[in-house]
Amino acid sequence: MSEIAQRPFTDTDAADEGVRVTCDDATTCKQFASSRGYWKDPYIQYFVRSAGERKAPEINRGYYARVRGVNHLIDAFIRKTECNCQIINLGAGLDTTFWRLKDDGLLPKKYFEVDFPAVVARKIHNIRTRTSLSKPLVETNSTDPLRLDSHSLDSDRFCIIGADLRDVSGLDEKLKKFQIDPELPTLLVSECVLVYMTPAQSSNLVHWAADNFHTAMFINYEQVNMADRFGHVMVENLQRRQCHLAGLEACRSLESQKERFLKAGWEHADALDMMTVYGVLPQGDVTRIEQLEFLDEKELLHQLLQHYSICWATKDKLKLGLSRVVF
Ligand SMILES: C[S@@+](CC[C@H](N)C(=O)[O-])C[C@H]1O[C@@H](n2cnc3c(N)ncnc32)[C@H](O)[C@@H]1O
Repeated sequence: MSEIAQRPFTDTDAADEGVRVTCDDATTCKQFASSRGYWKDPYIQYFVRSAGERKAPEINRGYYARVRGVNHLIDAFIRKTECNCQIINLGAGLDTTFWRLKDDGLLPKKYFEVDFPAVVARKIHNIRTRTSLSKPLVETNSTDPLRLDSHSLDSDRFCIIGADLRDVSGLDEKLKKFQIDPELPTLLVSECVLVYMTPAQSSNLVHWAADNFHTAMFINYEQVNMADRFGHVMVENLQRRQCHLAGLEACRSLESQKERFLKAGWEHADALDMMTVYGVLPQGDVTRIEQLEFLDEKELLHQLLQHYSICWATKDKLKLGLSRVVF
């Protein structure tokens, strides 16, 4: 019997399972909104376990702001580096950004994803069994076949690694094994991930990133303004689904979001709540999506958008102008 099979099931396993399933929530919401025309994602359908129920227009508009906002910063970084960069998506879940970048002609030199081994195993299975997902990997790989085992997949341009982000030295070891390049401009992305780690654990991770990459940007999307009544209700709802937000302390304000990076060695940090982001996204497209579904009462949407944020931090030894990346 393996060491893992012998280990008794602990509270931590149960808590981690509550966190792991959040990738299904993100995927079903993204799939539903994209199927309604909020944005195009022909790949997300291959990752949904079962067709979810319909989502409220507030949820769809919230995901629209999240996807458009994060993509805006990702694309701006890639353009600044002229694709001469690498991306590490931390807690990537079933995210489809790699396939979007390939279709948009914006692939970095290598795109890494990290998540718990159980999530990674599932994603690898989906990729292996769907030609629409595996073909772009094969097309960008010089050797045949793809390098695979149950908890990792490696190819020339795409790599998925099973690891626990709370164990930074284990993460570092695995990324080195898959040829992460500390000299290359590096974009780290965490979308609704750091909030599941304690402040000490997320600070360690953010510190490790600042120590290891001299020219880098870190994009973090997650909750903000969580100390008010609406924030408390959000926390209670998640707790009822066995999902504990261990990292709430950093989600007090935009200042606390930036502080985590500035204290960990990042040179520059910006943060905006999603209400502000929604207001600065290309307004022609915002008008288009606002016509997709009727929304009479805007109060709930505004509350939701005020309780999420994007924070991005930069270090720029190569002087690429990363601190000037804005909306
Ligand atoms: C809410 S989901 C978001 C997934 C993806 N970033 C997205 O936006 O579609 C959070 C993801 O973070 C992963 N995660 C959280 N804590 C982690 C940890 N300590 N190590 C590895 N993955 C973690 C979960 O397994 C899950 O896939």
